[in-house]
Amino acid sequence: MNNIVLCGFMGCGKSTVGRNIARKSNRKFIDMDAYIESKAGMTVSQIFEKYGEDGFRDMEHEACIELSEMSGLVIASGGGAFTFERNCEVFKGKDTVIFLDVPLSVIKKRLRYDKSRPLLQRPDKDKAMKELYDKRLPLYRKAADITVKGQNSPLKTAYAVIESAEKNQKGEK
Ligand code: S3P
Repeated sequence: MNNIVLCGFMGCGKSTVGRNIARKSNRKFIDMDAYIESKAGMTVSQIFEKYGEDGFRDMEHEACIELSEMSGLVIASGGGAFTFERNCEVFKGKDTVIFLDVPLSVIKKRLRYDKSRPLLQRPDKDKAMKELYDKRLPLYRKAADITVKGQNSPLKTAYAVIESAEKNQKGEK
């Protein structure tokens, strides 16, 4: 069974929606950041601190390769994963990549007090978020097979993803 891979900006609900999809479609849920953290034995913030963003991106790429070799998963990718062509290539043609499209205003509210995302721990957080969001939006759209609006409840969004993923079945893995 093909994997369903969720991409989109930090705070768009990839993990929450992903857990719902897994429950309703008989797949196993994997959070890519948690996968990286358990392999590295440290948190994403610690990885950024110790190895820098480039070090984290290499681990993320490794995780993409490993997870794409498995099947029957719902994968919540990290917000940066599908902004790198090398990661898009790994999943292309094999798994169904879904972009969870949520407006920046909603994301800003959700991430107001966030302390876990290293890229957002800066005094000009709002400006940085907007720049990153604008830069990434076209990349998510390009990487994804399907775009699903992600503003509804996680369960409703999960059903919308399942329905569109079924229409987009690729050859069996
Ligand atoms: C990142 C998003 C994070 C995490 C890391 C980098 C990004 O994942 O992978 O902090 O570049 O957008 P979430 O999208 O799950 O927050």
